[in-house]
Amino acid sequence: MTAQHHGRHSPTHRTPGRTTLAEYRRFLRTALRSPATVGAATPTSQAVSRTVAQVVPRTGSPVVVELGPGTGSLSGAIHHRLPESGRHVGIELDEGLVRHLRANYPRMETIHADARDLRGVLDRLGVGAVDVIVTSIPWALLPEDAQEDILRQCHEALTPAGVFTALTYLPMQHTPTGRRFGTRLHSGFDEVLIHATWRNLPPILHYTCRRPLQATEQ
Ligand SMILES: C[S@@+](CC[C@H](N)C(=O)[O-])C[C@H]1O[C@@H](n2cnc3c(N)ncnc32)[C@H](O)[C@@H]1O
Repeated sequence: MTAQHHGRHSPTHRTPGRTTLAEYRRFLRTALRSPATVGAATPTSQAVSRTVAQVVPRTGSPVVVELGPGTGSLSGAIHHRLPESGRHVGIELDEGLVRHLRANYPRMETIHADARDLRGVLDRLGVGAVDVIVTSIPWALLPEDAQEDILRQCHEALTPAGVFTALTYLPMQHTPTGRRFGTRLHSGFDEVLIHATWRNLPPILHYTCRRPLQATEQ
């Protein structure tokens, strides 16, 4: 019996947002193989995952889309809040991580795709509009056109009351692509809240953006 099938670590019994040792190893292996795609050395901590997941409504039938779920540290925290009638779609680029997510987070509809195909994935799943988008893809490492393209699709997919969140490392906000990302969020959303978590190495910057603006309002 592997750790992931053992009761204590099974998807239904694990602590939401908590990463197992096996997941740390898997994350590190993937990061060493594809450093620019993963963009981090360790999964998001339990404390940060729980803070990020606060954007998930606990009532109704919300649709939550997660870009880059990785080993699932945010996915578990999202599930902890998501009502039974809610829907959780995860879009992950790495094939090995997709297999891991399907085995360990069966409630999430895990799609092996690039976030750049967000609209196509939603169309194929019959999802019209999205209430919450949680992202931890390495925004500041993306080429400019990819960053713009994915953000535009997120923006278009959200309901007027929808929420967009992004996790980046704090030092990345001083790079040109990091600065550009921040500027795009401020021009695309009516409200942009920024939360820094210093007890993380490197410190994490967490954007929470509400009320997507129409093109004419930007
Ligand atoms: C920094 S890790 C975050 C993983 C996890 N959500 C967490 O918080 O620990 C970034 C993840 O995004 C995935 N990723 C990177 N670029 C992507 C893209 N264009 N489309 C979908 N997933 C992507 C990587 O494979 C990796 O799993």
